[in-house]
Amino acid sequence: MPQRVVGLDVGSYSVKAAVIHRSFKSFELVSFYERPIHYSDVLTPEQSIVSAIQALIDDNNLVWDDIISAVPGEKVATRLITMPFGSIKKIDKTVAFEIEDYIPLDLDSVVFDYNASVLGKNLAKVMVAYASKTELAKYISLLNDAGVDPRIISAGGVDLVNLIHFGFATPDAPCAIIDIGHTKTTITICRGKKLILSRTIPIAGRLITERISSKLSIPYDEAARLKIEVGRISIEEQPESDEITTGVNSAIKEVVDSLIVHIKQTFFAYRETENEAVSGIYMSGGTSRLAGIDQYLSYVLRQNVTSIDPTMLHFYKIEHSESHPAVMNEAIAIALRGVSFGGSSGINFRSGEFAYRVGKKKIGGASRRIATIIGILAMLGFVYFGAEYCSLSNKNKEMNQEIARLVSNATGLSPEGIQSANDAIKLAEKKEREVKEKIDKLEMELGIGVLDILRNISINLPPKDKAKIDVYEFRYSGDTVVIKGVADSPTSVDEIQRQLQGTNENKTMFTNIKTGGLSKVKDGYKFDITMQVSKEGSSEQEKGKEK
Ligand SMILES: Nc1ncnc2c1ncn2[C@@H]1O[C@H](COP(=O)(O)OP(=O)(O)OP(=O)(O)O)[C@@H](O)[C@H]1O
Ligand SMILES: [Mg+2]
Repeated sequence: MPQRVVGLDVGSYSVKAAVIHRSFKSFELVSFYERPIHYSDVLTPEQSIVSAIQALIDDNNLVWDDIISAVPGEKVATRLITMPFGSIKKIDKTVAFEIEDYIPLDLDSVVFDYNASVLGKNLAKVMVAYASKTELAKYISLLNDAGVDPRIISAGGVDLVNLIHFGFATPDAPCAIIDIGHTKTTITICRGKKLILSRTIPIAGRLITERISSKLSIPYDEAARLKIEVGRISIEEQPESDEITTGVNSAIKEVVDSLIVHIKQTFFAYRETENEAVSGIYMSGGTSRLAGIDQYLSYVLRQNVTSIDPTMLHFYKIEHSESHPAVMNEAIAIALRGVSFGGSSGINFRSGEFAYRVGKKKIGGASRRIATIIGILAMLGFVYFGAEYCSLSNKNKEMNQEIARLVSNATGLSPEGIQSANDAIKLAEKKEREVKEKIDKLEMELGIGVLDILRNISINLPPKDKAKIDVYEFRYSGDTVVIKGVADSPTSVDEIQRQLQGTNENKTMFTNIKTGGLSKVKDGYKFDITMQVSKEGSSEQEKGKEK
């Protein structure tokens, strides 16, 4: 029976898992799964990540004999050190002393590990990677909350060298693997099969989307769509472009140019310390899919740029994956730690107080359950809203499955027993009492919760005989709510607006309600509503209801 090794890459856009089957003699990459992280106002970012990892595991029935992960690169710093001896024992003893001067933190408050690229008789060159103990503890606790306790916790980006080691033969000259993701770009420089250094820069796809959004004054989601659909970076201006495309592309160029400054600095520093230049770039990460970015980097950095295609790896045996190969690399590289010998980075933060203990009890416990239940409640709010006012025929099935999964996670009951939103609502109501206190506290901290808003929208929508609507999008960020849907007539849209506005006697929690985007579609009239949320209106109306 081969053993199952999972490499878990916790990105900021999605969590990814690569599954390798290893046997005594060989290994094969058999599956890859990805789950986008849905950040919401109800969950903290950590809870959203926990929920995504849980879903990744549950939806794909992911099981493992060995699981490995890496602290995300933005939480790790690195230093290159040269020592006048090459004995591992001596390096072990002196590395702490050597880095003390370089680290801007108290040595007792960090965990570190190192990787040697040169080990001569009288010379060692090592890259030390370190992270604050607080950050590492947080990361381990986040994984534990999702039911994961990795044997190895490496540093984000450093394991990318494994792809070179196991697959992409390079000449014995330094090359750089540049992974451009969502919030960060990792530059990993290798020579032959050896890791030299790895560095993380906080510029990537999200910044591009944010820049497009502010440049064109459009919502983030629309900017993200335009980035992918019309975005392109090129050396020359595209004179025939329309205003939107020009705006998108100039935003892309601004951000990519600022990233290039950092890449150049890293290459320059490398040349200064190592007396040799980087020759050749391998690209990876979701943002490496941006149209034209390979030619652009190649032109500006005067380097050969190649995209890493993991499907070309000799051990790639995945039959079907919905994910693009560009986003697979980090998880595969991490999983390869489970089969690697020589060549890999060897960085592992699990030592001392963070050492891995075999057979440690899996943590599910209260924090996992509460996070999940809060997720369910947010979801149920949407379903209440949906079930009453929408004909979300396709989405209903999907939602019921999602609810069943969430409720099953929270209650430990089999998802098969939860057939419909109604079953889930009943169960969740029972469980809600158990966590009410926590939710109240959370809502107090957050101000108005999504549930409040959904409840208020439900209260204030026109009765079904007056307006029929099908809502396919609901968004709430800052103090703005956006609803998109299809109504049976333009009058229904007016009616919705009127009801949401309320009256002087019966104020709602919504102000500044604007309808727009009205257009005739197959099933009715497409519309969108944007409105501001105000706390006073909500409490007044709630009070009014109590009287
Ligand atoms: N075709 C495309 N063109 C441009 N950008 C794209 C394309 N497809 C995906 N992206 C962007 O790629 C990013 C996600 O990439 P990736 O999955 O590598 O991120 P991540 O690993 O989760 O994040 P990070 O490593 O930065 O924490 C998003 O910003 C997304 O908008
Ligand atoms: Mg990533």
